[in-house]
Amino acid sequence: MSNPVAGHTATSQHALPSYLNADHVGPWGIYLQQVDRVTPYLGKLSRWVETLKRPKRALIVDVPIELDNGTMAHFEGYRVQHNTSRGPGKGGVRFHQDVTLSEVMALSAWMSVKNAAVNLPFGGAKGGIRVDPKTLSRGELERLTRRYTSEIGIIIGPTKDIPAPDVNTNEQTMAWMMDTYSMNEGSTATGVVTGKPIALGGSLGRREATGRGVFTVAQEAAQHIGMDIQTARVAVQGFGNVGGIAAKLFAQTGALVVAVQDHGGTIYKEAGLDVPALLAHVAQAGSVKGFELAEVIPDEQFWSVRCDILIPAALEQQITTANAYQIQARMVIEGANGPTTPEADDILHERGILVVPDVIANAGGVTVSYFEWVQDFSSFFWSEDDINGRLVRILREAFAAIWHVADEHQVSLRTATFIVACSRILQARELRGLYP
Ligand SMILES: NC(=O)c1ccc[n+]([C@@H]2O[C@H](COP(=O)([O-])OP(=O)(O)OC[C@H]3O[C@@H](n4cnc5c(N)ncnc54)[C@H](O)[C@@H]3O)[C@@H](O)[C@H]2O)c1
Repeated sequence: MSNPVAGHTATSQHALPSYLNADHVGPWGIYLQQVDRVTPYLGKLSRWVETLKRPKRALIVDVPIELDNGTMAHFEGYRVQHNTSRGPGKGGVRFHQDVTLSEVMALSAWMSVKNAAVNLPFGGAKGGIRVDPKTLSRGELERLTRRYTSEIGIIIGPTKDIPAPDVNTNEQTMAWMMDTYSMNEGSTATGVVTGKPIALGGSLGRREATGRGVFTVAQEAAQHIGMDIQTARVAVQGFGNVGGIAAKLFAQTGALVVAVQDHGGTIYKEAGLDVPALLAHVAQAGSVKGFELAEVIPDEQFWSVRCDILIPAALEQQITTANAYQIQARMVIEGANGPTTPEADDILHERGILVVPDVIANAGGVTVSYFEWVQDFSSFFWSEDDINGRLVRILREAFAAIWHVADEHQVSLRTATFIVACSRILQARELRGLYP
């Protein structure tokens, strides 16, 4: 469980904005390296590549709230819109004590890439508050969410930038955000956020969508490398919305989920964990800690567990040079955003381990968010079967196109996804031209 915002220095050719620390660039440095890798494949569009190396807009806000004990507390909040060439900004809101501007910038850029990779008509954005929400009461959390929404209200909106849940935010957070924005606007604007409760214009299937997407993409990748997913051994880091649902779907298909790690510790069972029982335990206890039907293993042993599929579904920079040589899996499916450092990516590549990158592997969430947004605009709601069917079709087609590009250029799936996505973004940029 390494520090999610450990430093990464950007390569010297990048002119960093003055608001980032050049000695400790953070996740934005990783993103810049990924852009460097794709640039040679962009052909004439590479003349626009600088567009990708800076966010269009970054808003930093102070979020003051009154605590239950009567004192005031101030929190740092962000909303970054990386690129809106292909449509309004779209991306989650994260509440975490380690959130930084660099991290939100990188996450917003990965949203631009992800949305373009699956061809959704969105740009990329992300938001966050530097807070440990576990230290706040429900009332404090609501005040924090509402004040933050009000502060970023000047740049979000159903046709401008549409937030959604991310780490430590959920349907309730979205309901408060939607209400606050609507109160300020004077009319109910369901389309301002996605990931809402069903009763407020949310979409069926949204809660499960990211995990379902992880599972779908894993199925496609497994087919390409001749792996039988029904007998696969799976290890999952992070047992929240993404990791928990993905684990459930793997277990349902017959796969053995042998190890799970979350912020509370790491558990292991050679014969496969009882995933429904573990989900029930986590829903009640808040973590895998204390689950009796498994053995506890040291956190660092998680990475060397014998498995076929490893799913990082927690935070950034978890697979590093420190553990990439220990990984036993045949494929890594990135449920989390940015879980693998570029150096670790190279090690996995050299070792013949297939990495299915975040920008396609976890795109299921934003795909159903797109469906939610469309349904809100038309006030016409689809069935869950319809939603899951469309989701699976979009992800399969996107994955097939990316696999083809990887094959054609003999590059990793990450670079291939960036080639597809960045070409789409820069083509839109070129067609629109530079204003004024
Ligand atoms: N929720 C979505 O729809 C969605 C969509 C795309 C990508 N993602 C990404 O997936 C990841 C997980 O998001 P989520 O929505 O499941 O969040 P979540 O809050 O529901 O779950 C996060 C999980 O990570 C675990 N975790 C936290 N710190 C950890 C640590 N240091 N070591 C090990 N485990 C740790 C938590 O215990 C929890 O199980 C994030 O990177 C997020 O950006 C989420």
